Amino acid sequence: MSKTFHVTTFGCQMNEHDSERMKGMLGSLGYTEASEQRDADLILFNTCSIREKADSRFISYLQLAASYKRARHGDVIIGVGGCWAQSVKDEVFRQFPYVDVAFGPGQVHKLAEFLTSDSLTAQGFFEFEGFTGHLPAARERDFQGWVQISAGCNMKCSYCIVPSTRGRQVDRPLDELVAEVREMVAGGVTEITLLGQNVNAYGRAIAPPAPRSSFAALLHELDAIDGLKRIRYTSPHPQDMKEDVVLAHATLDSVMPHMHLPLQSGSSRILKAMRRTYSRERFLDRVALIREHNPDIALTTDIIVGFPGETEADFEETLEVCEEVGFDGAFTFIYSPRRETEAAEFVDAFIDHEVAVARMDRLVEVVQRRANERAQRFVGRTLDVLVEGPSRTDPSRLRGRSGHGKTVNFTGLAEAGEIVPVEIVRATSQTLAGEMSLLARALV
Ligand code: 5AD
Ligand code: SF4
Repeated sequence: MSKTFHVTTFGCQMNEHDSERMKGMLGSLGYTEASEQRDADLILFNTCSIREKADSRFISYLQLAASYKRARHGDVIIGVGGCWAQSVKDEVFRQFPYVDVAFGPGQVHKLAEFLTSDSLTAQGFFEFEGFTGHLPAARERDFQGWVQISAGCNMKCSYCIVPSTRGRQVDRPLDELVAEVREMVAGGVTEITLLGQNVNAYGRAIAPPAPRSSFAALLHELDAIDGLKRIRYTSPHPQDMKEDVVLAHATLDSVMPHMHLPLQSGSSRILKAMRRTYSRERFLDRVALIREHNPDIALTTDIIVGFPGETEADFEETLEVCEEVGFDGAFTFIYSPRRETEAAEFVDAFIDHEVAVARMDRLVEVVQRRANERAQRFVGRTLDVLVEGPSRTDPSRLRGRSGHGKTVNFTGLAEAGEIVPVEIVRATSQTLAGEMSLLARALV
């Protein structure tokens, strides 16, 4: 009987992507996936370290895995990959002696080396060596795929652990990405999401002799691939959001009308302390440019509250920007000090947790109210929806995603992977509800 594995994934879409590659790689080594962690011969975690909560959640999972290992008299391999592993490095073996193998985000392939060697000692691998994009993928859905266009990040945001866990930015050559996407499309993929820590900085960090390129050039090349219907990407940085990318949204059919553009704070003073390299005015100017060329585009964002030194006035500026822009959605976070980051040293300026929580509540109110207002523009319109499966709340209905990235629950008959017209009848800040338009469908 073949050996089995189980992977638990924490964190961002890059980790989702890396986990699919881990699974693909294990498949090619003859492993099969176990549905329950307790039955697996190889228990893997792909970890995140972005906020303290991510760390503590993961550790309780790890302890449970250790109990399964004890129950099987040690005959289980426990592996820990990803950003948390990278941030603690060999320390992991001292703190958690039941861990057999640990590896950083650029070291996924080393897991295969470890599993096929005769080594009985625990091993850690933490030097960036290659893109997981080169490994085979085991995709969750046949019609959607991730594409890792770069690894690492050259920014120095003072709150962020990622530059230290994922290292300097390295981009994959354009030709290689186009070939990868062509192959995915030939295999049935119609929607791709380009992944990178700072996607729109793509192109400058391609290793010679491959030529340099740009994110807009990549979008143009990918749009030209027959059969590829939807291109998404995450996350861009406002600093590198130039007109060429904005125009790509306006002119290329497959580039979806959605942009996730992290604001982080609406106060120029806090943005400076965060080392975000743009001011409130510059951010608003980018939004104006984006909307000038793409009036209907959905804009979503990330915001941190309670950054060290954030005053009531700074926070009100964040509220003002949210009112003014009217995001279609936002991920909101309370600042969490991370080891080896600059802001973690601003201890004297840390904000009381209760103050941060109260600010978060006020922020969520504004974000949701504006998102709700914005969503009403879809009511009465017929949107193309990529069907993903049954609705989570009512299995007699279907669920899918509009081009704007909104979840749509609707009545109708369609297969996962189809793109169908849905007439929107109701909208909230989070989801849209509608009915599949039979007339429009007959005309497609
Ligand atoms: N504390 C809180 N939020 C953070 N983020 C990144 N680092 C931290 C931190 N130390 C948020 C940012 C980023 C998103 C992925 O996570 O908003 O855009
Ligand atoms: Fe978490 Fe950031 Fe690493 Fe993604 S890149 S797994 S969000 S720490």
